[in-house]
Amino acid sequence: MIDHMFGKITLSIIKPDAVKKGYIFPILYKIIHAGFHIIALKMTELSKKSATKFYAEHERKLFFESLVKFMSSGPIISVILEKENAVKDFRVLIGETNPVYAKKGTIRNLYATSLEKNAIHGSDSNQNAIKECLFYFSNREIFF
Ligand code: CMP
Repeated sequence: MIDHMFGKITLSIIKPDAVKKGYIFPILYKIIHAGFHIIALKMTELSKKSATKFYAEHERKLFFESLVKFMSSGPIISVILEKENAVKDFRVLIGETNPVYAKKGTIRNLYATSLEKNAIHGSDSNQNAIKECLFYFSNREIFF
C-alpha cells in the first residue's frame, strides 16, 4: 500500500505534446534537480476510455472532449515523485495551468504551448495524488 506516503508523493504526467517534442529528459532533469525522487515511471498511452475515466471530474466542461482526444493522442510518461510537500512543491515547479501565466523558468513556461497542450500534469491535492498514483501503477510497480 502507498497510503503511508500521504503528503510525500505526487503523480506527474509528461503529456503527449512534450513527449512528441522530445522534452522527456529536459523535464525529468528539472524535476530531479528540484529534489524529487522517482519511485515509479512508465511510458504508456491512454485509450479514450481511460482518459475519460482519469479526467472524469471535468466531464461537464466544454473542453472535456478535446482534452480526452489530446491526452489519448500519443505516448505519455507517468511518474510517481517523492519529496516532503510533494504536491505543493511540484505545482510551484510546473507553474500555472495556463502557460501564459506560468512564471519564468517553470516547466510550463519553458515547454508548454497552450492551456490544453501544457506539457505536464501534477496532482492538485494529497488525496488525489494517492488516487492518481494508483490509477497508473499497481503497488508492485512502486519502489520506495
Ligand atoms: P491539468 O491540470 O494537468 O489537467 C486538466 C487539464 O485540462 C489541464 O491540465 C489543462 O490542460 C486542461 N484545461 C483546464 N482548463 C481548460 C480550459 N479552460 N480549456 C482547455 N483546457 C483546459
